[in-house]
Amino acid sequence: MSAEKLSALYRQCAAYFDALYAPERRIYVFGDGDPAAKILLVGEAPGEQETLLQKPFVGRAGKNLDEFLALTELTRPKLYTTNLVKFRPVKLGAKGRASNRPPSREEIELWKPWFLKELNIVSPKVIVSLGNVPLQALAGRKTVIGQAHGRPFGELILGATLFPLYHPASVIYNPALRESYLEDLRAFSAFLRENRL
Ligand code: URA
Repeated sequence: MSAEKLSALYRQCAAYFDALYAPERRIYVFGDGDPAAKILLVGEAPGEQETLLQKPFVGRAGKNLDEFLALTELTRPKLYTTNLVKFRPVKLGAKGRASNRPPSREEIELWKPWFLKELNIVSPKVIVSLGNVPLQALAGRKTVIGQAHGRPFGELILGATLFPLYHPASVIYNPALRESYLEDLRAFSAFLRENRL
């Protein structure tokens, strides 16, 4: 049932953004995994590899994510994985080459209601936000990942517990975060066991 509702939502969402961004055609990367999962993972926005394969977290950040998941009992097919913004935000360099940029505040505001609809359909028990962008979209801009990571957030989001983690790519740019990430994953595994998830 959730799978059909999600497909209908993706069609509606693509039609909305096609009209908004016309005449430009963007490639959307929608969610992947179990549409009735108890645990939903939400990242920031897809990158180049994700756009090519039209699946979230299949590039370098995805490799890191898989490495981290291997330390828990979770595997991707058991989860629903998605992004807050569902196209790749790019900037063009001097030679016209595209590179990733963070989504703008306007893009985040435009995509957030669509993510909330997606969340409503999947209806997970736990939302794992990866990095600051999805965390702040859900918990408000006063909440920052450096303080909120590794433990459940105080308020439920549409009936689900929010468990913020660092973005898996942040460990690529800042290897010093690795120990902290591993500690957070231990805390996350303990949380899943305590809640029989
Ligand atoms: N980073 C994200 O936030 N999402 C992806 O899907 C890939 C990289």
